[in-house]
Amino acid sequence: MAVNLDAFRGRRVLITGGAGMLGSTLAERLVELGAKVTVLDGMLPQYGGSRFNLSGIVERITFVQGDIRDRALVRTYVAGADYLFNLAAQVSYIDSNGDVFTDLDVNARGQLNLLEACRESGAHQRVVFSSSRFVYGRIEYNPVDERHPLNCLSIYGIHKLAAEKYHRFYSERYGLPTVSLRIANPYGPRQQMKHSRYGIVNWFIRLALDGEPLTIYGAGQQQRDYIYVSDVVEAFLIAALDDRAVGQVYNVGCGSGVRFREMAELVAEMIPGTTVQESPWNEGSYFVETGDYISDLTKIRKEIGWAPTVSLRDGIAKTIAFYRQHRAHYWSALVSCKASETAGRG
Ligand SMILES: NC(=O)c1ccc[n+]([C@@H]2O[C@H](COP(=O)([O-])OP(=O)(O)OC[C@H]3O[C@@H](n4cnc5c(N)ncnc54)[C@H](O)[C@@H]3O)[C@@H](O)[C@H]2O)c1
Repeated sequence: MAVNLDAFRGRRVLITGGAGMLGSTLAERLVELGAKVTVLDGMLPQYGGSRFNLSGIVERITFVQGDIRDRALVRTYVAGADYLFNLAAQVSYIDSNGDVFTDLDVNARGQLNLLEACRESGAHQRVVFSSSRFVYGRIEYNPVDERHPLNCLSIYGIHKLAAEKYHRFYSERYGLPTVSLRIANPYGPRQQMKHSRYGIVNWFIRLALDGEPLTIYGAGQQQRDYIYVSDVVEAFLIAALDDRAVGQVYNVGCGSGVRFREMAELVAEMIPGTTVQESPWNEGSYFVETGDYISDLTKIRKEIGWAPTVSLRDGIAKTIAFYRQHRAHYWSALVSCKASETAGRG
């Protein structure tokens, strides 16, 4: 039976990383559903945390600027929660290979801080962990189901996998009801637009709005599974409420492959005057290139009844409309990164 999202009414919800793209969209939806929301976010400059992301709900939530690596702080806020959405992370797989210890600190030790705080509180919070398709690393077959080998190609993928296993361990050993979602390539309103080290659809939208060409590696034939932010948020909500999700991992994507060039051409079509150009692979990016990636959604559809609803065309249109209106809150032409940057391809 499908879960009833009204179950969140009056419940206390903690969202780590709640000022970022996924976290703030989740926070807004939970406020709409009548939950008492606390957002805990470190507002670290290189990621997507933004006060503007929370501007529509700031009066109706508790906002705490704090780091998941701060054990005492985490204890305080975890103890009072019925649900914990665990989204705070170092998000860039590229940065993870350059600064392995920050990734370890946030994406592994930070996760243990949260889980230990849950255990110590004895409150059996429902925990939803945002994992990533990067745990699969080099892809051996498509569509990728949850039994696909875990061939991590980045420190980020390795630590996301470790964190999934921590969540599973606390579920089995201490009865903490946890679930992990392996998210494909999310995009949409409220994503950071400062750099291209994650979030390539958004980055292309920024370039196009700035009148810059979109540069693709090789012929742009690699396939990706792009998932719109509101669809990911619904997956988080359902996974938190459905008892069948406890102890599980699920893929969250759109379930079909779109070629990189096709995505770029869609952005170009919707922002007239944009050109798409090719560039040879650079060594660093080639190493972390996973091969085509398409999520197999059979497990999540069957077990908890979630399915995506927003097409790539509609999602890109909504995202463009959002940044046309709110661009000044996300980037400024004067402090722009080198606009032709081609790093980071998700
Ligand atoms: N964006 C992607 O490409 C992608 C893909 C798969 C999975 N995910 C995962 O989804 C989650 C949310 O990502 P997003 O796309 O919303 O990115 P985002 O950058 O918009 O949000 C991440 C948030 O976490 C916060 N944060 C980072 N380190 C923190 C710390 N130590 N303590 C407290 N807060 C901290 C940041 O300030 C930011 O607001 C992350 O766990 C990420 O790994 C993202």
